[in-house]
Amino acid sequence: MHKKLAPKLDTQFKQEVYQGLTSYPKFLSSKYIYDKAGDALFQDIMNMPEYYLTNTEFSILETYKEQLAQYFFNNEKPFHLIEMGAGDGKKTKILLHHFTDKKLDFTFRPIDISQNALDSLQANLKDEIPELATEPMQGTYFETLKKLNFATDERKVILFLGSNIGNLLHDQAIEFLSKIQEYMQPNDLLFIGFDQKKHPQILLDAYNDTTGITARFNKNLLVRINRELEANFDMDSFMHWEVYDPESGTAKSYLVAQSPQQVHIEKLSLDVTFDAWETIHTEISQKYDDKTVHWLAEKSGLKVLETFSDAKNYYKNYLFTKSV
Ligand code: AVI
Repeated sequence: MHKKLAPKLDTQFKQEVYQGLTSYPKFLSSKYIYDKAGDALFQDIMNMPEYYLTNTEFSILETYKEQLAQYFFNNEKPFHLIEMGAGDGKKTKILLHHFTDKKLDFTFRPIDISQNALDSLQANLKDEIPELATEPMQGTYFETLKKLNFATDERKVILFLGSNIGNLLHDQAIEFLSKIQEYMQPNDLLFIGFDQKKHPQILLDAYNDTTGITARFNKNLLVRINRELEANFDMDSFMHWEVYDPESGTAKSYLVAQSPQQVHIEKLSLDVTFDAWETIHTEISQKYDDKTVHWLAEKSGLKVLETFSDAKNYYKNYLFTKSV
């Protein structure tokens, strides 16, 4: 008799894909969208007119860069400008240019899991702002923040931009913020971008553009599973679907099977069956209001010091300190 061997779930990717596709309802984590192709598609998303988040945060930083310089400035003592997930640094460069022009005494410390991303950011900054002191730190956010949490009178200013926090459920966001708060001293600051609740149609357009870039971004999860786990998902039989609940402020992305089908995933020794119109939930993009952000802060041992917004209140950046 032939017995099927148990699959070797020897990576986190394999474990999570196995768990998500054998659950009901099915789900996959959006963090796995970001391989090389996923990163490039996200760059395209940020350049789409419908995806207002990037340009709006850009304009907030441009408008308030002087006020931020005054908040971050640490009474003649140096400060550390730490960015979690710096990417190509496009938005942060507004601050970096302004602070170096003002001759503020600070070091820029981008944190990223990818050494590659850090190397190209550093090379680019050396070219564009040669007088800037940059000290990239490779690792996870928390490993790195822990290392930086020595008792010192040099202020840490931690940046988390792009409404990346919105990819977390509220409980996960509280856990995330509480951990950051533990690695902060009373003099430190935390500066985070939160996309705001707004007309539901604007949100649906941002996450379901007519050119299909967001659909390709979402489907990149299946492309990646096909390539890395030797699967045979048929891209054309899944469609991208976005919903937005104006009550909770949660935008959710799905991949929907348009016909009944079976998918084989060789490296997981798994056959996955889909009924017609069955879903895979892939991403949440939470939208906020002031009440919710203040509640998250309070639950995480933080307090809001100042709020910066664009003229339409589409997006806000909040400055936090430890509450005790
Ligand atoms: C990275 N993150 C904040 C984006 C968002 O808005 O949730 C990812 C994204 N998904 C679809 N479009 C953009």
